[in-house]
Amino acid sequence: MKVGNHVGFAAEILRKGGLVSIPTETVYGLAADATNPDAVAAIFKVKKRPSFDPLIIHVSDFESAKKYTSHIDPRAKLLADHFWPGPLTLVLPKKDSIPDIVSAGLTTVGVRVPNHPITLDLLRSVDFPLAAPSANLFGYVSPTRPQHVASQLGESIDYILDGGPCAIGVESTILGFENDSPVIYRRGGIEISAIEDLIGPVKVNEHSNSNPQAPGMLSSHYSPFKKLVGEPYDQTVKAFPNLKVGALRFSNKLPSCPENWQLVLSESGNLLEAAYHLFEYLRKIDELEPDLFVVEFVPDIGIGQAINDRLRRATASNH
Ligand code: TXA
Ligand code: MG
Repeated sequence: MKVGNHVGFAAEILRKGGLVSIPTETVYGLAADATNPDAVAAIFKVKKRPSFDPLIIHVSDFESAKKYTSHIDPRAKLLADHFWPGPLTLVLPKKDSIPDIVSAGLTTVGVRVPNHPITLDLLRSVDFPLAAPSANLFGYVSPTRPQHVASQLGESIDYILDGGPCAIGVESTILGFENDSPVIYRRGGIEISAIEDLIGPVKVNEHSNSNPQAPGMLSSHYSPFKKLVGEPYDQTVKAFPNLKVGALRFSNKLPSCPENWQLVLSESGNLLEAAYHLFEYLRKIDELEPDLFVVEFVPDIGIGQAINDRLRRATASNH
């Protein structure tokens, strides 16, 4: 496995059916030629991802999105015009050129144009779309730095295209249509209010373990290996007298918890900064001394809703 910023090298590997981790503004992806079923199968294998969980495809622009989808709702076009390149995935009816393994047998496929210069270069230099889920083992925290990818999947992929840390830090917002109405399948980098400003009210679909249609929203996703619980801190310490209890905080430290057992997402209370740090700190939790962490939720506005969604799923995990 190699790490570097050589777009031509990455393109060569992808043309041969290999796997390359790609930077995006949200999280690092684990990419393969979406039109090559064997290459896509390798993504599922490396991630240990169940085959019923569909992948999204990445394209360089709206015109390419049209090549792989059979119908683009006018509201989807409006959103694409406004937010692409950017953290919005549109679920649209797929064409046969996208193999069933990508969409896990669904008739739709998620498509987005990522906003990262290196990956846009790469997408322009190959003549196929890139299927790419987040480059982490299934169920674990998404990677926002090349080192995160290297430490977890480094042995099993061909190249990591280094684009630095991801600017946004939470995954794309996913929107599709059901019975002609827009539905949000995952909260993410684009706030719902910004979407509603353009196309009117949208329904938010709360996914759970009982809904395998979009299983990325399994309630125990985004979990570090250590256990995370909700507040309050002092009560948790009392409940687990034999455990070291740390804290993942929004903007300030708790006086009752040792300083170096605490991680603060944004000292200035900035939600964008909190999103930027979120997955890095969820990974750090596994390296710090405490056995258990108490999580403080962030203000539930703007991108804070996407952060809280990840935090809820991380605390819902039963390991
Ligand atoms: O920001 C992102 O979206 C990142 C970067 C790499 O682009 N990708 C990402 O992929 O988060 P992944 O596979 O980790 O999450 C994609 C989610 C999955 O939860 C999947 O269930 C859902 O999209 N999904 C994919 N195709 C779908 C479809 N046709 N209908 C509904 N949900 C779909
Ligand atoms: Mg993922």
